[in-house]
Amino acid sequence: MRKKIVAGNWKMHKNATQTAELLNELKTQVSTENNAQVIVAPTFVNLALATSLLESSAIKVSAQNMHQAESGAYTGEISADMLKSVGVDTVILGHSERRAIFHETDALIASKVDTALQHDMAVIFCFGEELKDRQSKNHFNIVENQLKDGLFHIEAKDWEKIVLAYEPVWAIGTGETASPEQAQDMHEFIRETVRKAFGSDIAEDVSILYGGSVKPDNAKEIFSKPDVDGGLIGGAALNTKDFLAIVNAI
Ligand code: G3P
Repeated sequence: MRKKIVAGNWKMHKNATQTAELLNELKTQVSTENNAQVIVAPTFVNLALATSLLESSAIKVSAQNMHQAESGAYTGEISADMLKSVGVDTVILGHSERRAIFHETDALIASKVDTALQHDMAVIFCFGEELKDRQSKNHFNIVENQLKDGLFHIEAKDWEKIVLAYEPVWAIGTGETASPEQAQDMHEFIRETVRKAFGSDIAEDVSILYGGSVKPDNAKEIFSKPDVDGGLIGGAALNTKDFLAIVNAI
């Protein structure tokens, strides 16, 4: 069954005190009554704090990344087992900032997906074109290749652990939100691409989130589109008022 989801990707923001402050506000105002599953993704150092504060809450906790190895000499990295050990069973993979700044390739992201699924973790799989791709009308090809090269190797049974997050790079952090029509066009294409490769049941059941300058004043119209199942929120996830306004826009 396709779920409505609003996830907040906090990126490299909020120390432990600020994390506790925001989560203590959110947890009193998010419940199972909300139409959307709410997820927050604090930084690594605050994940244990977040899962502890949200233990009896309807809000789930996600990591923003993880390493593909089980363990080893990878200074500064975090494994799936470490995330599970602090109660985190969801991870964002393939974010455009990991791809652009940390040079993560489709093949590397594919191996991270495998490790996450082997640990029975849910994956929020991120992908999206750059401005030059859209300007050259190559955006559908780029998105199709990111899906095929980073995700489509998985087995049909694993799709129940997958959430797709389409994030046009040119809309991330820029205030240049994709129009609801642009979002719907791409989400419809994404769902059709999944359908061709895995069949209608999986295509209909997978949640496809939009990310890229979602704000309280544009969320409702974007979320109203038939193939948009929620949002992956950056800047607006960092304050209670805006994030709750977006959650309630579903
Ligand atoms: O992962 C979500 C993020 O990339 C979107 O950021 O600030 O444009 O909402 P923002």
